[in-house]
Amino acid sequence: MDDGLKNIYLRDRNCPNCDIYESVLDLIPEPLVIVDREGYIVFFNRAYENYLDISKEEALGRYVTEVIDNTRLHIVSKSGKSELDCIQKIKNRDAIVQRIPIVSSDGENLGAIGKVNFQNKAELKSLMDRLRSLENELSQYKEQSLGQMRAAYTFDQIIGVSEQINHLKEVAEKYAATDLSVLILGETGVGKDLFAQAIHNASPRQHGPLVSINCAAIPHELLESELFGYEDGAFTGARKKGKPGKFELADGGTLFLDEIGDMPLSMQAKLLRVLQNKQIERIGGISSRNIDVRIIASTNQDLDLKISRKEFRGDLLYRLNAATIKIPPLRERPEDIKIIVEKTLAKPEMQKSIDDQAVSYLQSYRWPGNVRELINVVERLVYLSEGEVISSGEVKHLLVDLFEDRDLGSGEEAEKSEEIDMTRKFTSLSSGDESKSTLDELVMEVEKRAIIRALENCRNNRAQAAKQLGIHRTTLYQKLTRHGLV
Ligand SMILES: Nc1ncnc2c1ncn2[C@@H]1O[C@H](COP(=O)(O)OP(=O)(O)OP(=O)(O)O)[C@@H](O)[C@H]1O
Ligand SMILES: [Mg+2]
Repeated sequence: MDDGLKNIYLRDRNCPNCDIYESVLDLIPEPLVIVDREGYIVFFNRAYENYLDISKEEALGRYVTEVIDNTRLHIVSKSGKSELDCIQKIKNRDAIVQRIPIVSSDGENLGAIGKVNFQNKAELKSLMDRLRSLENELSQYKEQSLGQMRAAYTFDQIIGVSEQINHLKEVAEKYAATDLSVLILGETGVGKDLFAQAIHNASPRQHGPLVSINCAAIPHELLESELFGYEDGAFTGARKKGKPGKFELADGGTLFLDEIGDMPLSMQAKLLRVLQNKQIERIGGISSRNIDVRIIASTNQDLDLKISRKEFRGDLLYRLNAATIKIPPLRERPEDIKIIVEKTLAKPEMQKSIDDQAVSYLQSYRWPGNVRELINVVERLVYLSEGEVISSGEVKHLLVDLFEDRDLGSGEEAEKSEEIDMTRKFTSLSSGDESKSTLDELVMEVEKRAIIRALENCRNNRAQAAKQLGIHRTTLYQKLTRHGLV
């Protein structure tokens, strides 16, 4: 072991650099503790002081289990075996911790270091969300720079055993063989991109390009030049040599107009003209070019409603929906949840299994983000779960957290609701008693947490808490008794 660390560890005050080493460890923003071979605390950094609200002086010299909930550092200091990325309940929250043994160069166990990487799952979630959004951004830039979309998916890769999904796959395969425009409808995350790719890959145009444009992501002023391109010097700042638009890039292939519901009305008129004439004119150009492009469009918006509000052109809709595919939300096909979870877990980087009760929990959630959200949750469960098998308890915790993040974000919102009716937030499954009890358990857990949170917000004033929850005071008293909170 390094002499400096040894000196801190042995609390040798003669060590000239000891204070420096201690100060450096104090600068680490994550809580960090060092115990000796017997499990007594010999170092406790500032972040740990803040985290546990215990001063260094109080912690030093005490047996680690007396200071830190559910710790195993006293075991690691003897076993000499690291325990990495473990979940440890500290202050009633699931923290992610590392436990690393300190072993001397001749193999003697000297103690252990404990570090809290994430103080609760929300911290981890926010990091994962940040990483995911960076990844998405990167892949979008990659796709944009190539001007082409990766047409990676085929119908075989669209997972599902429900009648609805199998029927849709059959219908979409038939459409693929034609040159009809296809309109794909469905909530966010149901698989609209997947279907667009699979249709292109099964079509006679499969060897041609699949070019995609997201009508919501591109500023309205740029949409026209993105779609139709421009000629040399068409406007100030334009690239000298002009640039082809997505229609030209997709010539001989497929153009995927994603989020078509967000296309401005002026562009809708131009698009309609192109679809009718099969010709485009670059901005600043003087002649038209013939183009041979198959259109697939998608949206998660209600186009009929937009037509009634005069935000979408009816004649464009009739051009686009020669063939329509409406993908149902995941909550309407809960039988697909099991197979999607299993296939996700079977990926080489996952390699965990899940118990049946845990799957039932997943089936009782409403999945507003559909398959995308389900896959994210499974990935998180793999990371958070301690054993080889993801348990129902772990799933329950995460779903309740998700529910709280999304629906109980602000007291004000809860105040507006007439009565906390948690069942609305989860699907009511009709099949079998087991699913019913699963749903009841989740609802009870969410209700309990909502009440605890409201009481905390209102400093235990029950009348105010009842008001915030939108329920009568008597109802709150009954619920407090039912949840053992009195
Ligand atoms: N049936 C399915 N089988 C396997 N993966 C799926 C399925 N449906 C969706 N996914 C996955 O879920 C994620 C979201 O799918 P996709 O991007 O196609 O959704 P979307 O409907 O286009 O959503 P948005 O409206 O937000 O653009 C992707 O990672 C996709 O691979
Ligand atoms: Mg999409």
